[in-house]
Amino acid sequence: MADMTVAYSPSHGLGEEQSVWFKLTPLLNQENPMQVLMALSDKYNGVIPINLKNQRIVLLSEPAHAERVLVSNADNYTKYFDGLRPIFGRSMITIDGALWQKIRTPQQAAFHPNMFEEYFPYLMSAIDSKMERWAKFASTGETIEMVEETWTLAAEMVCKALFDREMPFNPHFVFKQVKTYTDVMNHKSVRLKNVRGELVEITGEDTAKAMEIWHSVPDMVMGANILEHREKTLLTMLQEAEADPEFPEFDHRQVIDEMKQYLWAGTETTALTLAWSLYLLSQHPEAMERIRQEARSVCGDADPQWNQVQQLAYTRQVIQETMRLFPPIWGLIRIAAGDDDIQGHKIKAGDKVVILSYIAHHSPKYWDDPEKFEPERFAPERAKKRVKYSYLPFAAGKRSCIGGALSQIENTLALVQLLRRFTPEYVGPSPAKIHATVTLCPKGGLPFRIRALS
Ligand code: HEM
Repeated sequence: MADMTVAYSPSHGLGEEQSVWFKLTPLLNQENPMQVLMALSDKYNGVIPINLKNQRIVLLSEPAHAERVLVSNADNYTKYFDGLRPIFGRSMITIDGALWQKIRTPQQAAFHPNMFEEYFPYLMSAIDSKMERWAKFASTGETIEMVEETWTLAAEMVCKALFDREMPFNPHFVFKQVKTYTDVMNHKSVRLKNVRGELVEITGEDTAKAMEIWHSVPDMVMGANILEHREKTLLTMLQEAEADPEFPEFDHRQVIDEMKQYLWAGTETTALTLAWSLYLLSQHPEAMERIRQEARSVCGDADPQWNQVQQLAYTRQVIQETMRLFPPIWGLIRIAAGDDDIQGHKIKAGDKVVILSYIAHHSPKYWDDPEKFEPERFAPERAKKRVKYSYLPFAAGKRSCIGGALSQIENTLALVQLLRRFTPEYVGPSPAKIHATVTLCPKGGLPFRIRALS
C-alpha cells in the first residue's frame, strides 16, 4: 500500500498569515458577512481590491468577471488550494492544465447521465436508512442538527452509488473533525487577533489528528462490504487507471486522493443544499405542500421510479433556488498566472482573484426581488431569460462541478421521500444566520424537530 503519512504542513494552514482565507477573515468574521461583502461590492462597483503588503486579492462579483476568469481566459487562472491540501491531497479538483485533463478523463464516464439510472436504487436505499432514523426522531421528539443528518445521507449515497460499498465510517465523527479544520475561524492565528464568540480553537496537534482520521477513511471504504460487485463504478474506474501501465501518474495515492475529494466535495455541498432547502421550506409551508402534491401527482402513493424523476420539476426548482440563495461554494478562488484586463480592471500576475457567486446570486441587477424565495424563477421559460454567469452554484467553464447533475437528482429524491413522510420543523432562531467558512454554513447549525405525517 502506498504512502500513509499525513500530509499536513502547518505553514500552509487555512488560518496562516499567508493564506487568502486568513486575509478574508476580518470581512467574514462579522455578524452578517455576506451583507458586508454586498455593501462593499456596491460601493466599489463589483470589484473590491484588497491591497496588502506583498499580495493583492481582488474580489469580483459581476457575471462578466466570472465569464473572463472561468471561461474565456480560464487558462490564465490556476486553482488556489493552500490550506486545503490535507483534505483534498493532489486530487483533480486541485490540479491545473494537461495533467488535470488526464486525471479527469477516466472518471468522467461515472458522471454521464446514462449512469444515473444505475445509481437510482442505491440513492433510494440511502434515503430509506434516513427515513428509518427519522421515524425514531419523530417518536422521541428530540432536536436534531440538520446538516449532520443530510451530510450522513450524502456520504451514504456516494459510498453506495459511486463506490459500490456500505458506508463503513461514522460521518458525524469524521466530518466534524475535518470541519473544525476547514472552519478558518478556529485557527489559532486568527483567534489570537480576534478572540470573540464561542468558536472552538484548534491546535496543530488537533489538526494533525483530524487529518490522520480523514486520511484513514478511503482505505476503510475500500475494505468495506461490497454491495453488488458492479463492473463499472467510479471506484473501478479509478482502479483501472491505477493499473494502466501507460498512466504512471495515476498511482495508488491518486486513487486515495480522488476518493477523499468525492467524500468531501461530493458530500458537504450536497448536504448543505438539502439542509438549507429544508430550512427554506420550513419557512414556506406552501412550497413544502406543493412538493407533496407534485409527488402525489407524479408517483401516486408509490415510491418514485427512475423514469419519473424528470417530472419532479418543482422539487428541482426548489433545490436550484436554494443554491441561489445559499450557494454552498460562495466564492471561487484563483491565482492569475499572467497579467489580465477584466472589464477595464488590471489584474497582475500573482494576484488572487475571488469570484463571489453569492453576490451575483443576490444582485437586483440580475434577479427580481433577489431576497425572495421563489423557486418558479427556475421554470424553463423564465430560466431562459437569465443573464449568463449570474448563477454559478457549480462554477462555470471546463472546471465546473463534475457532480452537479447527480447532486440534483440526489436532493430531488431526498426531498420528495422525506417530505411525504415527515414535516421537518426548524426550531432555531429566525432568520438563520450565515457562517462563511470555505463553504456557506449556517451559524450554530440548523436545529430541527421531526414530525411524522399521519
Ligand atoms: C449541491 C452540490 C454541489 C455543489 C454546490 C458543488 C459545487 C462545486 C463547485 C463550485 C466546483 C468548482 C470549484 C472551483 O472551481 O474551485 C465543484 C467542483 C467539483 N465537484 Fe462539486 N458540487 C456539488 C456536488 C458534487 C458531487 C455530488 C460530486 C461528486 C460526487 C462533486 C464533485 C466535484 C469534483 C470532483 C469537482 C472538481 C472538478 C474538476 O476540477 O475537474 N460535486 N463543485
